[in-house]
Amino acid sequence: MSILSELSTIVGAAFESAGVDAGYGQVVVSSRPDLGQFQCNGALPAAKKAKTSPRVLAEEVVNRLGGDARFTDVSLAGPGFINLTVAPVIIGTAAETIRVADSMAKPLKKPEKVVVDYGGPNVAKELHVGHIRTAIIGESFKRMVRYAGHNVTGDVHLGDWGTPIGQLIVELARNHPDLPYFDPDYEGEYPKDPPVSVEELNELYPVASRRAKEDPSVGNLARLATAELQDGRQGYLALWNHFRSTSIEAMQAIYGELGVNFDRWHGESTVHDRIVPMVERLRSAGVAVESDGALIIDIAEEGDTREIPPLILVKSDGGYNYHTTDLATIDGRVEEGFTSMFYFVDSRQSDHFEQVFRAARLGGIASRNTQLEHAGNGTVNGRDGRPLRTRDGNLPLLREVVADAQRLALERMDERGLAADYSESERRQVARLVGLAALKYGDLQNHRTSNYTFDLERFTSFEGKTGPYLLYGAVRMKSILREARIRGLDPGQIGPPQTDQDTNLMLRLLQFPEVLDRAIEHRAPNQLAEYAYEIVADFNRFYEKCHILDQPDEELRSTWLGLVDLAHRQLTTVLDLLTIETPGRM
Ligand code: ARG
Repeated sequence: MSILSELSTIVGAAFESAGVDAGYGQVVVSSRPDLGQFQCNGALPAAKKAKTSPRVLAEEVVNRLGGDARFTDVSLAGPGFINLTVAPVIIGTAAETIRVADSMAKPLKKPEKVVVDYGGPNVAKELHVGHIRTAIIGESFKRMVRYAGHNVTGDVHLGDWGTPIGQLIVELARNHPDLPYFDPDYEGEYPKDPPVSVEELNELYPVASRRAKEDPSVGNLARLATAELQDGRQGYLALWNHFRSTSIEAMQAIYGELGVNFDRWHGESTVHDRIVPMVERLRSAGVAVESDGALIIDIAEEGDTREIPPLILVKSDGGYNYHTTDLATIDGRVEEGFTSMFYFVDSRQSDHFEQVFRAARLGGIASRNTQLEHAGNGTVNGRDGRPLRTRDGNLPLLREVVADAQRLALERMDERGLAADYSESERRQVARLVGLAALKYGDLQNHRTSNYTFDLERFTSFEGKTGPYLLYGAVRMKSILREARIRGLDPGQIGPPQTDQDTNLMLRLLQFPEVLDRAIEHRAPNQLAEYAYEIVADFNRFYEKCHILDQPDEELRSTWLGLVDLAHRQLTTVLDLLTIETPGRM
């Protein structure tokens, strides 16, 4: 359901009767609201094609539409722009149609089977603030594409098969050489409980990785342990399972708190069995070739403006790396029938994905019909413009950042006397959601590729373009509806708007289908985030001017309540697509 498509059909018909293609009648929201609500710029290209003057053609279209009661104003501007203002009854009817529709998205022509690959945490490393971007943007994109009607699977794609695991094994063996995992001749059962807690694992990892980097012999041991693990050494596999499940449990807690829900917890290790056959295929097809003992794929293309190094499929020591598992993952996803794969991963990995995607095409793993796209993201910066660090130089942990946001949200609520007389548990629950909204909106309001400055003070403010401001708007709508119910007033059908403010709010809400489409097309949840803000701003102007519950004209009051109902429904839907949960009251 979209008013723009409806208007485009009407205007298209006028173009057609003026002798040009109906497709030129495309209507868009006006960039000059002072001249009209909508505009059509098709007369310029249409006239060029028909070799006539755009003004003459546009005039003809304007004359044809002039008598149409569905418009209150049709006018010509500049070299051939057509400005349109729509009759209130058309606006009211269109608003009512989406109020009662199951979905506010446009009907989908062809649902695709889509993978959204996001999150991408590594086993044994605690999530830090930088992980928020891929998690929130990826989750939001996944929800948008799903809402549009596609068949979407979100995959965390854990880093669970690389050298960090080998480093951990070596470090643990140093501290606890007597554990059965290290005895190659051990034949008994391995302990059910992990040898390290999640806290110990978090401490172990930095030490393990530092030692492996500083001491080449430790580095070699770690590489060897990784190769043995990948080769199926039992004790190492048992340890790996412990590390993995301990880590996943901690990850699920924080992702769960953030409302980030992966449909699958696959990882690099998931595709291990695919690697050998894939490598063989690539070798016999002549795509992968021997070079200095390694097996590589040359992916440079004519016209490259920078050097794209070959992809190393098998290292000279026989091991596989990140590229190889990513290629095998594509192989598996194609086999499962996925036709689009989106990777929401830090922009700094763009070379990696360029290499992997080129190799997938060259090797026939993904055909031209499979869409492979790296939707890169920027970084979370401190005030110095560099990736955010704590005073001791570490990346702030994600769970600490979430807790900070929630604590600050509670302070802000107290300042305003919000939720003051609620039970302590409800007050905390509201603060929890306000804090999350602050954090998420602070991220989502920026374009995916930009870096942004992390500023919890600003994010948690109830004023300006912030998560708390949006939640407050949603809660206000809800409370009007609640109050109406108490007074025995039900939201009615939406009829024609009667003021500038109800007109503008309706026109805003009618923009949703196109905003959603555009946000998906640009992989840009920030466009939807901006739109959420516009809804609340238009709603607040309406609320200030129009005294909804006290409106004596019953029909108008019912229209306004219907409008609040629609605004509330759409805003909470949009917020949900942005992963933001709304409290019932505050
Ligand atoms: N684990 C990787 C990292 O920490 C990110 C994984 C992204 N996804 C992918 N399919 N490569 O850098």
